[in-house]
Amino acid sequence: MVKICCLGAGYVGGPTMAVIALKCPAIEVVVVDISTTRISAWNSDQLPIYEPGLDDVVKQCRGRNLFFSTDIEKHVSEADIIFVSVNTPTKTRGLGAGKAADLTYWESAARMIADVSKSDKIVVEKSTVPVKTAEAIEKILTHNNNKGINFQILSNPEFLAEGTAIQDLFKPDRVLIGGRETPEGCKAVELLKSVYANWVPEDQIITTNLWSAELSKLAANAFLAQRISSVNAISALCEATGADVAEVAYSVGKDSRIGPKFLNASVGFGGSCFQKDILNLIYICECNGLPEVADYWKQVIKINDYQKSRFVNRLVSSMFNTVAGKKIAVLGFAFKKDTGDTRETPAIDVCKGLLGDKAKISIYDPQVTEDQIQRDLAMNKFDWDHPIHLQPMSPTAVKEASVEWDAYEATKGAHGVCILTEWDEFKKLDYEKIYENMQKPAFIFDGRNVVDPEKLRKIGFIVYSIGKPLDAWLKDMPAVA
Ligand code: NAD
Ligand code: UDX
Repeated sequence: MVKICCLGAGYVGGPTMAVIALKCPAIEVVVVDISTTRISAWNSDQLPIYEPGLDDVVKQCRGRNLFFSTDIEKHVSEADIIFVSVNTPTKTRGLGAGKAADLTYWESAARMIADVSKSDKIVVEKSTVPVKTAEAIEKILTHNNNKGINFQILSNPEFLAEGTAIQDLFKPDRVLIGGRETPEGCKAVELLKSVYANWVPEDQIITTNLWSAELSKLAANAFLAQRISSVNAISALCEATGADVAEVAYSVGKDSRIGPKFLNASVGFGGSCFQKDILNLIYICECNGLPEVADYWKQVIKINDYQKSRFVNRLVSSMFNTVAGKKIAVLGFAFKKDTGDTRETPAIDVCKGLLGDKAKISIYDPQVTEDQIQRDLAMNKFDWDHPIHLQPMSPTAVKEASVEWDAYEATKGAHGVCILTEWDEFKKLDYEKIYENMQKPAFIFDGRNVVDPEKLRKIGFIVYSIGKPLDAWLKDMPAVA
């Protein structure tokens, strides 16, 4: 029986290993983590992450061939294949701070693997890492090994998106495996390929050299984020000209060379990957003497930041240039629907912008806890991407931000509402009731284009929707970006 151990029981390690265990009953999969709270949660009825379909998969194989443990060294030493799915945050200090990937967690994992291994191992990079990380990992493993053990490093980046992780893992567009082009390297690639071949058609399993696999992951995220920044840039022009971004995106996406997906204008992209991976790409370009290429990708992040500040500026300028002391309801805090994840959510920047203008904000999200929201609003940039037990557990509460468990409570008495996550339930709210209970004039700022502006205008709201024609009120109060 092949034994797999995965270091890191997070958003990637947990669901990915659960699906491998489900699809490969003959393989024993153990997911380990340095966080005891995370492992206890994986072993309980309250999984540490919210992901549609995940509970079902875990229930089917936990205790059968899927295990969660903190006994890291034991399971690493027993495994044939070790996936490393630890976090790779952006460096917050030192060389490359604010851009380069911090490989502290990866390096300590590699040193531990070298220390405890007693048999040959295939070490798989599941985390997103800079190009050439495999070379560094190889050096750590071989220089710390005098036991004659053969370590093969593979790059097997993960392309799942949160909220649809189980669907994406069941039917991936492709699985990518990079390895050394040596006989041992090819053998390792074949073994990993045979694991995925249990449910992924072979022609969808791509094998490449290590560096192509590592770079493909960064490139894929950069391309995806670039599409969103492109449509968001066009959304600003739509507002200035009276065009409708949904109509423009539809027409553009009808070109089969462009395609319809990933063209929804929004308050900005969030999530743990896009910004971090583009910053990483920028740093690699700079280190390789390619400043023009670095500048090209920097623009994707600049437009994303512009979109978030443009939203806040629009909100404040529409409300007579001040929100001091006003109640603003925030509907949605997660970085997208169907997840409780708030890493790099645009809601953090929008809320901080409103708090900076002295607003009182009242937040409702169906999946994010009050503790998490308070922690996010109190945390410094990039501090979120460190193991949860290293983050401040009891942040000083931001007292101007309250958290409600119902959209109607959050909007009661509010001067304005902003929608920051596209949860389906926000489409179905009783907006007449919300309007009745708000201060007048009542404003709605839809950062996800989930409500019908015309219907809301009929109720009496002043409505701003990203990239849609502005109503007369907003035209009279131009926002300065
Ligand atoms: P995460 O923070 O949810 O999980 C990482 C886990 O690793 C944490 O629980 C942490 O405690 C644990 N860890 C850190 N050091 C460890 C060690 N030495 N031994 C054992 N456990 C250790 O992160 P994530 O979202 O799962 O992302 C992991 C990696 O996958 C990152 O490189 C990320 O860029 C990449 N990725 C993420 C996504 C996504 O949607 N979240 C998608 C594709 C790729
Ligand atoms: C992304 C990649 O899609 C995935 O392949 C990779 O493995 C990890 O990073 P994720 O961040 O989980 O996945 O979600 P994604 O669906 O890509 O959304 C990222 C952000 O972009 C969200 O804030 C989302 O709301 C936003 N978005 C997405 C838009 O604003 N418009 C769109 O059209 C699509």
